[in-house]
Amino acid sequence: MQNAPCTRLVLVLLAATRALTPAPKPAAVTRRTAVAGTAALAFASPARARRRNAAEQLRQAVFGAVADNPTVAGALLRLAFHDAVRRADGQTRGADGSIQYEIPDAENVRLGRPLALVMALKPDGLSVADAVAVAGAAAVEASGGPRIAIGLGRLDASAAAPATLGRPLAQPGDEARDVVKRTLPEPGLSTVGLRRYFRRVGLSDQELVALMGAHTLGRHNTLLNMTKACLRNLTRECLETAPVRAPFESRTPDAFDNSYYALLLAWDDRSLERGEANFIPTDVALVLDASFRRHVVAFARSEPLFRATFARAYAKLVR
Ligand code: HEM
Repeated sequence: MQNAPCTRLVLVLLAATRALTPAPKPAAVTRRTAVAGTAALAFASPARARRRNAAEQLRQAVFGAVADNPTVAGALLRLAFHDAVRRADGQTRGADGSIQYEIPDAENVRLGRPLALVMALKPDGLSVADAVAVAGAAAVEASGGPRIAIGLGRLDASAAAPATLGRPLAQPGDEARDVVKRTLPEPGLSTVGLRRYFRRVGLSDQELVALMGAHTLGRHNTLLNMTKACLRNLTRECLETAPVRAPFESRTPDAFDNSYYALLLAWDDRSLERGEANFIPTDVALVLDASFRRHVVAFARSEPLFRATFARAYAKLVR
């Protein structure tokens, strides 16, 4: 990885959390939500109706996959993020399926499996770009998050997008961590860099803070129990098979809820219990900036506000 240094940075910051909390049951698909998808079909053109039907099938299939293995949800959501921000046409947001050519890149370590899952579940008639965006939204919903309405009809890119920006986002007097050089954000970005990055993606501070709440789901690699060979040389293979993954937040790592924000505030107050959360620098950046922190407090207080803002930010990200 340009990532190798970043990964190391992440890894050294990890608390030595070992126990993964058992996952809660994913939310059931209700009859009402299933019917809502099909009702719209009556008014759509045949091609649009086919796409909507395929998207609904995929949504149901993702519910099944997450019910079988709740850890799949985080991987699918991360896949959707990585597809949306790296675009072959040089634009800054919108899923384009370019992720299918980008898996070998170091930043996309561990994304081969969720991509293979999407390709296996994807009905005919959906582009890869639509499928990845729909699967990310369905993964959120299956984990208890909001139902996210997204449009369909995205076209697939035919090549990988560049990993670095043609022109870095920089200002005179910047510190190194303020400068955005890559199309995927680096875990060491400062609050200045984070804001610049997500402005480029078209998000406000409030939407940025909500989208980062994606880390209420999932895990990241640690060095724990790695072989000596891997500790000497942290290869891609080592990262793909890391024996211990630390949840960003340990109590409910497979539930989409607002506990991420309460834990960030606890981190800021120094009242976090050991192993309760394993944040990376860009997570804690959200309480180090006054404007970001205001939204952290608001989302910690109001789960409905978090859910609605996340849904809006995700829909913008993948549109
Ligand atoms: C500054 C922004 C971000 C940085 C630096 C960042 C970085 C990371 C890193 C280093 C990991 C661990 C990967 C691994 O070890 O397997 C991770 C995992 C994850 N990221 Fe982010 N991320 C960012 C924003 C986002 C956003 C905006 C989303 C979704 C909308 C997202 C969704 C996820 C999820 C769900 C996981 C867990 C994956 C799993 O359990 O397999 N991240 N992120």
